[in-house]
Amino acid sequence: MSHRADTGPEPAAGRAALRLEAITYVAGRTLLDDVSVTFPAGRLTALSGPSGSGKTTLMSIAGGLLQATSGTAELDGQDMWTGSGDPRPEVAFVLQVYGLVPILSARENVSIALRARGVAPADADESAEAALARFGIADLGERQVEELSGGQMQRVACARGFVVGAGVLLADEPTSELDEGNRAVVLAELREEAARGAVVVVATHDPAVVDACDLHIALDEGRVVR
Ligand SMILES: Nc1ncnc2c1ncn2[C@@H]1O[C@H](COP(=O)(O)OP(=O)(O)OP(=O)(O)O)[C@@H](O)[C@H]1O
Ligand SMILES: [Mg+2]
Repeated sequence: MSHRADTGPEPAAGRAALRLEAITYVAGRTLLDDVSVTFPAGRLTALSGPSGSGKTTLMSIAGGLLQATSGTAELDGQDMWTGSGDPRPEVAFVLQVYGLVPILSARENVSIALRARGVAPADADESAEAALARFGIADLGERQVEELSGGQMQRVACARGFVVGAGVLLADEPTSELDEGNRAVVLAELREEAARGAVVVVATHDPAVVDACDLHIALDEGRVVR
């Protein structure tokens, strides 16, 4: 009888979760109202809801870009709000508006995510190339981002978010500009990140993306409706 320890593909066991407790966010009016959700590590969680329902606001609070008016966002007991609006180094975003530097090349845009975390430039560039390849845009590394199509920029933004091997990956509508084939690639890569044990949250309007996720949280007018 074998007593081999199971180190197989069950990454969620014993891992951290990103916990949001009673989050309220007020900016003129109440944009999030008493939202409590848990995003477990090792799982892919879909965050859906109509335009304006609060997905981006919630992701921003979850990742420490934005401070909640009240409530807590914690990973393993650590507050996600660092006090400055700079996310913790283990957090990576794929932003809805990409947030790329237009005059830098695709490779530089990805590489800077690693350089900002102290990776030596040559190593960062090498990893950036590999990250671009994951999204089928290895050939675009030298191209200036402002010369790329919307879908190409979106894939550069994915490469930049994925390259760091984050503990928490927050992807805000990362497939909105992609064709079916590229959407499938991004979904597979999201799954891969969850499989290595990351907390992975994907905000989406796309039912096919929701279906591909393990868990589903839906917002409406700033409240959790499922
Ligand atoms: N800084 C702000 N000040 C005031 N209102 C804001 C601010 N940011 C967002 N809002 C409002 O908060 C609501 C939620 O916005 P949010 O961007 O979180 O929605 P969303 O679900 O991500 O929408 P979409 O699907 O269009 O991306 C919207 O009504 C928006 O107009
Ligand atoms: Mg949004």
